[in-house]
Amino acid sequence: MRKIFLLVLLSGTLSAHAQSLSDAKWVTPSWKDTNAARIPVFDKSFSVEKKIRGATLAITAHGIYEATLNGRRIGNAYFAPGWTNYDKRLQYQQYDITKLLSAKNDLRITIAGGWYWGAFGHDLMVNRYGDGAALLLNLTIFFEDGTTQQFVSDESWRCGTGPVRYADFYTGEVFDARVQPGSWQKVQVKNFPPVDLVETINEPVTQHEKFVPRNIFQDSTHRYVIDFGQNLAGFVRIKVHGNKGDTIRVEHAEMLDKHGHFFTANLRDARATDIYILNSDGTETLEPHFTYHGFRYARVTGFVPAKNNCLAVALHNDIATAGTFACSNPLLNQLQRNITWSLNSNFMDVPTDCPQRSERLGWTGDAQVFGQTAAYNRNVQKFFAKWLADVRTEQGVDGSVPVMVPDLYHRSDSLKRSCAGWGDAATIIPWTMFRMYGDTPALAKQYESMKAWVGYIENNSPGLLWTARGYGDWYAPGDTTALAYIDQCFFAYSTQLVINAASVLSKKEDSIRYAKLLTEIKKAFLKNDIDADGNALSNTQTAYVLALQFDMLPDSLAQKAIVHLENLVHQNGDRLSTGFLGTPYLLHVLSKYGRTKLAYTLLNQQTCPSWLYPITRSATTIWERWDAIRPADSSLQQTSFNHYAYGAVGDWLFGNIAGITPLEPGFKKIKIAPQPGGGLTWAKASYISSFGKITSWWNLKKNRCTLAVDIPANTKALVVMPDKKEFHVGPGHHVFRAHVE
Ligand code: BGC
Repeated sequence: MRKIFLLVLLSGTLSAHAQSLSDAKWVTPSWKDTNAARIPVFDKSFSVEKKIRGATLAITAHGIYEATLNGRRIGNAYFAPGWTNYDKRLQYQQYDITKLLSAKNDLRITIAGGWYWGAFGHDLMVNRYGDGAALLLNLTIFFEDGTTQQFVSDESWRCGTGPVRYADFYTGEVFDARVQPGSWQKVQVKNFPPVDLVETINEPVTQHEKFVPRNIFQDSTHRYVIDFGQNLAGFVRIKVHGNKGDTIRVEHAEMLDKHGHFFTANLRDARATDIYILNSDGTETLEPHFTYHGFRYARVTGFVPAKNNCLAVALHNDIATAGTFACSNPLLNQLQRNITWSLNSNFMDVPTDCPQRSERLGWTGDAQVFGQTAAYNRNVQKFFAKWLADVRTEQGVDGSVPVMVPDLYHRSDSLKRSCAGWGDAATIIPWTMFRMYGDTPALAKQYESMKAWVGYIENNSPGLLWTARGYGDWYAPGDTTALAYIDQCFFAYSTQLVINAASVLSKKEDSIRYAKLLTEIKKAFLKNDIDADGNALSNTQTAYVLALQFDMLPDSLAQKAIVHLENLVHQNGDRLSTGFLGTPYLLHVLSKYGRTKLAYTLLNQQTCPSWLYPITRSATTIWERWDAIRPADSSLQQTSFNHYAYGAVGDWLFGNIAGITPLEPGFKKIKIAPQPGGGLTWAKASYISSFGKITSWWNLKKNRCTLAVDIPANTKALVVMPDKKEFHVGPGHHVFRAHVE
């Protein structure tokens, strides 16, 4: 009873907290030097005399904070308050700290630069969003006698330094365990331009999977190299027994080169090194607090690693697993595993391109390419709701959408801010989220932003031909697809998605207006980008894939186009030649036009470029480039070995091999239409929808396909067997059989 009352009491205060934060004052260190590297510790001691019923802390910072009360960590989040477009939106977190309070208390908050003022971005600029650390908090205690007391950040606080001597995301952290927090000075109260203080809605970044060393060896310089067996984003925890003052360095790398050398050339300006100075002659456990690295290997000096004294700890947003996929081909299972590892490594509060080099940015193109696959694998509803709020608020008044969100470089020239396949994240991701979660209010929230994006394209497309600069079919091997061709296809697709959203939201006038616009966009496309015989003016796989996927062609031309696409695949030795924008749709287009066999041939292909080539080279994550390890001489490119974009094929594993798709947004009605093939003898996938778990599990024995499905309560399903026979079923377990050729 008491507990329930406390919960009600605490949650009753939650909404009040944004206000209570307005009682608090922003405080900053008062030191005068401009040493951006100095990591401040804010401190406040206080006593509590009465009996406590509960206590909450609302807190935010400029930078990334770690808070302790009486030496114990508050919460388990990393890099809080998270990355938003700080000029407009700053998140705060709330914690129930009842159990940490005692009669005498010491509240300490360490704040490192993170995205706010740490060295970050291609140029490693410091103080990008503002000068140094600042803290805003409110700690409220509820007493048994019904009274409350609050401690807010104000001039009564003090500020010093502690063991964290330096930290940024790329360089790493320097931790001097000999240093106790001290050198206290008064804080300074400061005013900042107002921004929206918003409560965090997405799951925090927390510690997850842990890997013990798989192998440890000494390199030619006698330094120890640890192989953790999995490329990941996170840090290395070490347990050392040394002497006070000893220095230990831990460097990180994703790869060893073909000679077995520790390979750091692809990290660009990221030094990716954590340094510890020991405090005692006993055993110490050390790990960084304000940085992360993308790595599979660590090279250490100053201590002798062993299987029981070091651990790789993965960090990522604490989002629930939604889907699982497995089948009879171990290489495809490894591909699925690699997809989820690139997902883990790049869901670091914003969807990032890569976790290792001096980049790690919220590239909008990468996010839209991978969004659907991410949503099959994890429950990304809150994660993307938070990021889409940034997309909305980063959008220019002209509707332009930056190529990265948060828009790190505050680019003012909207043409530089926006391009096809990247800006379209503003329409594609909201629609993907709606498809998976059926959340109409969430779609309504994005609607104006979706329209504004299409409006932006329309206003910059004389004669309704969009010809923007852009990244095109990024990293496609082989012939280039013309930018203007890609632009026009995405112009059409985004317009189609606005039409879809308008129909869900009953915006009749908009539906009519955008339908007319779409007809004109497609007309302009046919006139400009397709010749009289139905040949795309860019003779590439991606050109045909986009035209077919986005329904750019009348039926007669579509039939020709799919044959062109087939031929291009064959001419390339039954291999793909698509980049970031074509790849996600390639297999979908083939199966949509009855070429599932060829789709499987591409999926099973093991020579470069293909999805399985990296697996034959022991990849444990998805690579940025198909040929990140050059097939000819096994040399490594200076590229990312952990980039989820090409992992977008994961959507085809769930949606086509296992055949689970929403027939109605949010899976109120489910379609299960598995497509056996590619030599597979069985496949099984599950997806936890908001109604419950859906399973599709088929096996092939000779020419007999048996399918078992699980359909959750309050839903209906349409099952389409490989022989095209259809069944309508309700909740429960059902088994079907079909004859297949
Ligand atoms: C990133 C990509 C991104 C691209 C823009 C790269 O540096 O890693 O993933 O989308 O730039 O083309």
